[in-house]
Amino acid sequence: MNWNGNETTGTAQAGDSAMIERAAALLRRGEVVALPTETVYGLAGDGFNPLALAKIFEIKQRPFFDPLILHVLNAEAAWELASSVPDGARLLAARFWPGPLTLVLPKKSKVPDLATSGLPSVAVRVPSHPLSRAVLEAFGGPLAAPSANRFGRISPTTAEAVRKELGDAVPLILDGGACRIGLESTIVDCGGTMPLILRAGGVPIEEIEKVVGAVDHATPVSEKPLAPGHLEHHYAPQKPLRLVGSPEELPSGEDFSDAGFLAFDRVPRQRFCKALVLSATGDLTEAAAHFFAMLRELDESAARRIIAVRPPRRGLGFAINERLSRAAGKSAST
Ligand code: TXA
Ligand code: MG
Repeated sequence: MNWNGNETTGTAQAGDSAMIERAAALLRRGEVVALPTETVYGLAGDGFNPLALAKIFEIKQRPFFDPLILHVLNAEAAWELASSVPDGARLLAARFWPGPLTLVLPKKSKVPDLATSGLPSVAVRVPSHPLSRAVLEAFGGPLAAPSANRFGRISPTTAEAVRKELGDAVPLILDGGACRIGLESTIVDCGGTMPLILRAGGVPIEEIEKVVGAVDHATPVSEKPLAPGHLEHHYAPQKPLRLVGSPEELPSGEDFSDAGFLAFDRVPRQRFCKALVLSATGDLTEAAAHFFAMLRELDESAARRIIAVRPPRRGLGFAINERLSRAAGKSAST
């Protein structure tokens, strides 16, 4: 156990039962707790307590029209929150839960409107990270948990990144190390005639299609409730971000000594302020795991601007591309 000064701020490793019980006790009192999942760190609160939900929105500075995901221990607990469960959702749950998949289902009335932003549907996910599962088990109910960053910013994949994002606003940050997947869950709505991908994420779309056949793609979910353009900026670094299709696109005459460079698999000859490589072997799973942490590292470096190379648009590369587009403030389809 590693205490950081005051009574409730601290970090815990998986298996630290005293800390897990402390987290559950805070959650029962309507407090929020930051915890690791296999995708990104979440800011968790009691999914049935409107005051806890309001606290999540307040700390994240998140608009109330952007609904939360409810995390539960297993599919049975997820179906408890739904008024009906389409066959496609059952198939996907059987294949990918616990894991980086979120299903959008018609909600039961007992699910608070604040969790769903008044929508008739609820987003549910069964995480696989042992620490989030231990907290869910100790708490004994659904936990609402958006990514533990301020709204619109880079999602945290380490406890340290959560501390930098939210700091003193969160009484307890559980430290489970770096997130294995590093991108948020894939969100699928199975309510229509064809499954609808609301957000590309930790389960590649090709894998979803192997289970339920062809899928549709929606405009990114959090853009929907607002006028077009308003939320095009998301996952945003503080510094300007420019995207290129390959390192060869960089003009040879330009001075890059003020630029941070986020390479996919190789760094070109130009001199950069700092250059990081997502995966030297071109492995998209490794690239995904490094993506947010490296984008954050460049944002915190001495570089005054960031240049990122788009990875190939297959597997997890599709989800990385979506996040790069929005981090650069472009529509996700470009
Ligand atoms: O991997 C993840 O999903 C992480 C970890 C912490 O579990 N959570 C996460 O939550 O990414 P958040 O709040 O950052 O993103 C949740 C997304 C939002 O864009 C929201 O609009 C969408 O889920 N969402 C939630 N409920 C929905 C619903 N009923 N219909 C459509 N979209 C929904
Ligand atoms: Mg988020």
